[in-house]
Amino acid sequence: MSHSRFPILFVWPGQEALGRRLCSRLCWEEGAFELRRFPDGESYVRVLSRVSDREVFIHSSLDQPDAKLAPLLWIAETARDMGAAKVTLIAPYLAYLRQDKSFFDGEAVSSKYFAKVLSSSFDALVTVDPHLHRYVSLDEIYKIPSQVLSASQEIAHWVRREVEKPVFIGPDSESGQWVAQVASLSGAPYFVAEKIRKGDRLVEIRLPDFVGATEGVPVLVDDIISTGRTMIESVALLRQKGWAAPVCIGVHAVFAGDAYNELKGSGAGRVVTCNSLPHPSNEIDLSEVLARALEGKR
Ligand code: R5P
Repeated sequence: MSHSRFPILFVWPGQEALGRRLCSRLCWEEGAFELRRFPDGESYVRVLSRVSDREVFIHSSLDQPDAKLAPLLWIAETARDMGAAKVTLIAPYLAYLRQDKSFFDGEAVSSKYFAKVLSSSFDALVTVDPHLHRYVSLDEIYKIPSQVLSASQEIAHWVRREVEKPVFIGPDSESGQWVAQVASLSGAPYFVAEKIRKGDRLVEIRLPDFVGATEGVPVLVDDIISTGRTMIESVALLRQKGWAAPVCIGVHAVFAGDAYNELKGSGAGRVVTCNSLPHPSNEIDLSEVLARALEGKR
């Protein structure tokens, strides 16, 4: 029997919680590799498992992408040099998608360049709820086939279990796509607010005029929580209008700096995320949705 029938999954250090759960759901071998920095800061990589003629998967969510990019490419290229049949990146969180336009002369559209680099070292990509705003599909920038999964079922399932009378709220127009889907799966109402971003850490949120406080529990849903300002401003506005403490749900727990504590201290009820990025707020597991998709690919 060809060895390519036995895929192998390499799990990025620090991402073992989801990576190993995935491995065990799929009954795949976990790959061994060595990763360290030389004293001058360059990356040393050594693939220790046999990958020749096998389908290789590398599980690495791409928060802090600049530090991860070089060693990630070295692993993929090494696997290719060692004869891997195919190398797929599983990046439940895919970085750099928010830089999708040059707003000022000379500004880098880094989403495009990042996609170009990843497309040259990998054969395929699997991700969850990528931040597609001005791009309709990842195919606009990625030259390799990508499979886009959604966390909506898992989020809706969590809300059905944990929140009585939810009223879903998307804090900005981009979040409309996620909130509409989660609300429909939960059979609950939703509305979408308007956001004006005035700086990296400065946003203004406006609720639609018709919105007054109701009996329900507000559930804010967004794809990324980064500085937390989008959630914090939304929480403040809802509280001012007399709503109960909102449940804040983010798919990807980026949480820059002290954002998590700031959000928890801002009048939010619960702060909950999916486990695409390891974080204490992870309550929604994505291993099943990923495993189903990966199983179906083979
Ligand atoms: C962008 O529009 C995204 O959907 C999020 O709303 C945004 O990344 C959240 O960023 P922050 O937490 O820094 O407000």
